[in-house]
Parts: sequence; C-alpha cells; structure tokens
Amino acid sequence: MHKFVGYRCSLCGEQYSPTEVTYTCSKDGGNLDVVLDYDSIRNKYKPEDILSRSDPSLWRFLPLLPVQEPSGTGTPLHIAGGTPVYALPRLAAKLGLKSLWLKDESRNPTASFKDRASAIVVSRAQEIKAEVVVTASTGNAGAALAGMSAAIGQKAIIFAPKSAPQAKVAQLLVFGAKVILVDGTYDDAFDLTVKAADEFGWYCRNTGYNPFTAEGKKTAALEIWEWWEDAHEKWHEQVGASEDHAPLTVFVSVGDGNIISGIHKGFKDLYQLGWLPDMPRIIGVQAEGSAAISNAFHEETETIVPVSAKTIADSISVDLPRDGVRAVRATKETGGTYVNVSDKEILQAIAELGTQGVFAEPAGATAYAGLVKAAHSGVVGSEDPILVLNTGSGLKDVRAAMQAVPSAPIIEPTLDAVKRLL
Ligand SMILES: Cc1ncc(COP(=O)(O)O)c(C=O)c1O
Ligand SMILES: [Zn+2]
Repeated sequence: MHKFVGYRCSLCGEQYSPTEVTYTCSKDGGNLDVVLDYDSIRNKYKPEDILSRSDPSLWRFLPLLPVQEPSGTGTPLHIAGGTPVYALPRLAAKLGLKSLWLKDESRNPTASFKDRASAIVVSRAQEIKAEVVVTASTGNAGAALAGMSAAIGQKAIIFAPKSAPQAKVAQLLVFGAKVILVDGTYDDAFDLTVKAADEFGWYCRNTGYNPFTAEGKKTAALEIWEWWEDAHEKWHEQVGASEDHAPLTVFVSVGDGNIISGIHKGFKDLYQLGWLPDMPRIIGVQAEGSAAISNAFHEETETIVPVSAKTIADSISVDLPRDGVRAVRATKETGGTYVNVSDKEILQAIAELGTQGVFAEPAGATAYAGLVKAAHSGVVGSEDPILVLNTGSGLKDVRAAMQAVPSAPIIEPTLDAVKRLL
C-alpha cells in the first residue's frame, strides 16, 4: 500500500509528489506536511489492528508512517518510542490539580525525544539510499541521529555549537559520528549544514527543514492517544469528571517548534481517520530568553521575528525557529496557548520533578515550569486532565542540574562529623 502520497506546503498549500521535493516548498520555503492516503489507511486498518500489536516501540504505528519498516530488528532504532507515562500525585496536589501525568521521553535510547525523529529520518535515508546523513543540532537531535545511525551502520555527520553541553558532545563522539563543532550559535550551525548538504550531496535531517522529522515526532501523539483511550475511563471515575470536561491538555517545551508541530500532526492524522473523538489541547512553553514563537502567538501573527536567544535551556535556545508557523497553529487550532518561563523557573522545575523521581534536562523541565505558571494563572483548571512531556534526560546537562539544587556538604569520615551535621 502506498500510504505516503506526497507533501503539502504549510504556507501556500502547494502539493508535491514524494519525489518532486526533498525538504521545503520550492515556491516560498514553507515547511512541508507529509500527506498520507487516509482513505486507504481507513479501509485497511481499524484502531484495534494497531493497538493489538505486541511491539511497544514507535514502529507499532507503521501503518500511519510514511516510511517502510527498517531492515533488521532489535537495535536502538527499532526500539525507539514506547515511553512510559507516570502519575505525579504529589506535584498535582501541590499545584491544586486533581490529576497530572508525565510522559518520560528521556527513556528513549539516546535519552531524548529526538530519537523519534531520527529513527524515521534514518529509515527514510535507508530507503533513498543516502550515503551520509547530516544534521545541525543543539545536541539532542545530533545524539539521536548519531545513535540511530550507529544502530544500523549509517554514516552520520553532526554540526553542533561548540557551547553544547559536554554529555551531548560525548554521546555524538561515542556513537562514532563525525562531529564538527561550530564557533557560533545553533542557527549558524543550521545554515552551514544546509549549505554543506547541498554542496556534498548529503541527506539533511535538520529540524524544521526535513519533513520526516515531524512524522517521527508525531508518534508521541499516537502513543498519547493510545494511553488516553485506556486511562480516560478510569480517570472519569476517579475524579468524578463531568461529561463536558476539558480535553486532555498536553504541555510541550518549544525551541524550533518541530516537536509541538509533530505532536499536532499526529493528533490531526488520527482526527482525519476518525479515530480521535476529541482533539487534545496543546500548550507550548518557551524560555523567556528564546520566545520567538510565543511572541508571534500572542501578537496573533504567523510572522516569526527572530530573537537573540539566551537561556540555560540550551536545547530550546533558538534565534529563528525553523518550524514557527506550524508551532503557532498547533496551539491556536487546539484551544491552547504559549507560556514563557524564566531560567530560574526552569531550574526550580528540575528540582520539583526530581522530588517525584523524574530527572529532566533544562529544556525537558521547561514544560513542567510552564504548567506551574499555567496552574497559578488559571490557564488550566483543577479538574483538567494534564499530561506534561519531559523531552530530555537530566544526565544530558549535569552542570545545569547542579544549579537547581543546593550542593551536598563534605565531611570528615567520622561519626562526630555526621552528628555535628545533623
Ligand atoms: C530536550 C528537548 N526539549 C525540547 C526541544 C524542542 O524541540 P523543538 O526544537 O522541535 O521545538 C528540544 C529540541 O532540541 C530538545 O532537545
Ligand atoms: Zn509554499
């Protein structure tokens, strides 16, 4: 079945066949949405056909993906996705909420959400027989591309800003990618990667440029759908929710805007298929110092004005978001909004998530910091069912984690010293 039928430009609506373009709209550079043949998917599958599959990874959703199953089995590329959802009852109580869950994307093979996108792009690379895949990255997308590539022996090249946290650079190197550190920002690395890919004929994975990244990211929405189908009834009984309760509200941290766009695309695919009764509400969270998308949303425009980004959350530190228009729509079309948080609030969120056993990097904790703000300002109500994403592991940026908590005392190895301390 040829379920992948082409692309549609998110700006001008121009349609392209699968072989006509590779990255963006040739008319206006707009991000391309992958178009699937919903009729043939609907005719061939029912939700149960997918939900009864035993494979817990993102590949359980293969019928809704524009790639073929990658060759081989059991590698990190084959087990990406399928991340757990935890209940956070104590944090919920602290925020005056009846229910709160967290989907922990740090449990992906390379410890961030980005494995979803890279698994799909590497599979696409295999299909089009690309010799080299390249990406610009603040660290996580690169680690994910390097890891997924290493899993199946694909060559990968990563351009990252030289300021990327050490753990992320270590991952790139250990996965055997060719690593090029750029003396500049993520945005500089992005532009350089596009030029280099063009010059040397490499396949470019750049976020918000390659249309397949959003298709990988949408698998988180497909998993959220599956989880909520199951959890919804129980939640109803537990909190005694009324029939017209608010939809599931999903908090996502936002940099380039591709995760939030991908999640929106996943829900839209399900909605088109008639498999999703209620569109969840999506709330984007940006760092105050890197809020170009949030600014556009609140100014009610789709014109994204670049900022000079500065935040401790390196993964979402972006001057010019590359998927800004679709990211604005993800919230606008679902009744959501954008919330901005300070670095101090992000660090506080790392510490608070830690008290429920979740270890998040700054960008990962940003979504929770946004929820704290939204709960206090009434953007969400105490009855609303809320799911927060943690998009990356705290192990990715230990220096930032140490700033979130008081340091541990050092004592002499004597019982007296312990007594004095206590
Ligand atoms: C941990 C983490 N959270 C959030 C994001 C934001 O994703 P996007 O840039 O697609 O908005 C990233 C992107 O690098 C990330 O690595
Ligand atoms: Zn266009």
